[in-house]
Amino acid sequence: MTAYTVHELVVPATMDDDPGTVQAFREWLAVSDAAEVAVHGLRELVWVPDEYLPMCHEPGAPSRLFAVRDETGATVAAGSYDTKQEPGTSNCWLAVGVAPEHLRRGVGTLLADHLEGIARAEGRTQCKTYAVSRQVGSASGPGYVQAPTGFGAVPEDEAGVRFLTGRGWRFGQVNRISRLPLPTDHSVVRELHDRASAAAGPDYAVHAWTGRTPDEWLEGIALLETRMSTDAPSGDMDEPEDVWTPERLRAHEDELARAPRTMLTVAVEHVPSGILAGFTQVAVPDDPARAAMQWDTLVLREHRGHRLGWLLKVVGIETIERDHPGHPSIITFNAEENRPMLDVNEAVGFVGVGSEGIWEHRPA
Ligand SMILES: CC(C)(COP(=O)(O)OP(=O)(O)OC[C@H]1O[C@@H](n2cnc3c(N)ncnc32)[C@H](O)[C@@H]1OP(=O)(O)O)[C@@H](O)C(=O)NCCC(=O)NCCS
Repeated sequence: MTAYTVHELVVPATMDDDPGTVQAFREWLAVSDAAEVAVHGLRELVWVPDEYLPMCHEPGAPSRLFAVRDETGATVAAGSYDTKQEPGTSNCWLAVGVAPEHLRRGVGTLLADHLEGIARAEGRTQCKTYAVSRQVGSASGPGYVQAPTGFGAVPEDEAGVRFLTGRGWRFGQVNRISRLPLPTDHSVVRELHDRASAAAGPDYAVHAWTGRTPDEWLEGIALLETRMSTDAPSGDMDEPEDVWTPERLRAHEDELARAPRTMLTVAVEHVPSGILAGFTQVAVPDDPARAAMQWDTLVLREHRGHRLGWLLKVVGIETIERDHPGHPSIITFNAEENRPMLDVNEAVGFVGVGSEGIWEHRPA
């Protein structure tokens, strides 16, 4: 029988760090990607190490990475443990991915036991994980596990679903993965832009920038980032408020700026109050052959109903097509129950290509 062992990686500071450290990180990422692509087949979601590494150095919440190796030293599984270091933090995020050629040999169990053990030892009372799925859109009936939100489902026979259920995890929500092929039909996007502008009216003004947040919007973006944890749908699971200060935002931006990609932010100002009412961010790789990834999108609860989500989305698409031409697509993840956001995505031409189940575990 093969002897498998768990190892914590030293996360390289940069891709120019010690070659052995960097190589171990590359192998970890390759296995993590291979485990997910084997499920959903979406090669556009494969990371390149230079893009992924800065996200492991999130200020105040650095990722801990773990590899399972066989006797030859080959990496056969990749795991991660993410949590804030701040005292009083109750939640954490785990991930486990096993190389397709090493499935059903207890490797996932070994790694998950290890990560859940860390969570317990640190006193975390809530763990969450994303399990990617080949499922596209809602489905019902035998063979599917329905999300408790009433929107979305995952196939019962998927390894991740069986694995997590067997470990006592609870299925809480589905995120739809959507893809917009580029270039878009410009007349469709333009018409949606005009309609959204008319609905928003003169009280709202759009601002867009790349890279660091301009000083004047620092407080506003920090508030929107905080509200991502309270105002975005979180399914049948608790989501503790995650407070962003301007200092944290700056440190986060400085880290992300190391990646070979540009962060485009589109924000909408409520002119009478001077408050930022919503924003969206798209990470655009320097390599035009790679997909652009739409990150957070949020309109504050008190400003919903003015088509601001539509406005943010179409301005983002138009800006990418004008300033960063040549990318094959934009990919975005949205809660399956977030109809307003899915409506705008579908209207501009996003198509569902897969999903991810979000699962929760409360260590005893
Ligand atoms: C889910 C995953 C981690 C399982 O890894 P693994 O090493 O094959 O898991 P194990 O061998 O430890 O399996 C433990 C149990 O899970 C269940 N299970 C795992 N895969 C299964 C499958 N394909 N069909 C049915 N049951 C399965 C079984 O009960 C299994 O026990 P058994 O083999 O004694 O019957 C792996 O399939 C994977 O990487 N999937 C993609 C990423 C993912 O979904 N991760 C889970 C969220 S973090």
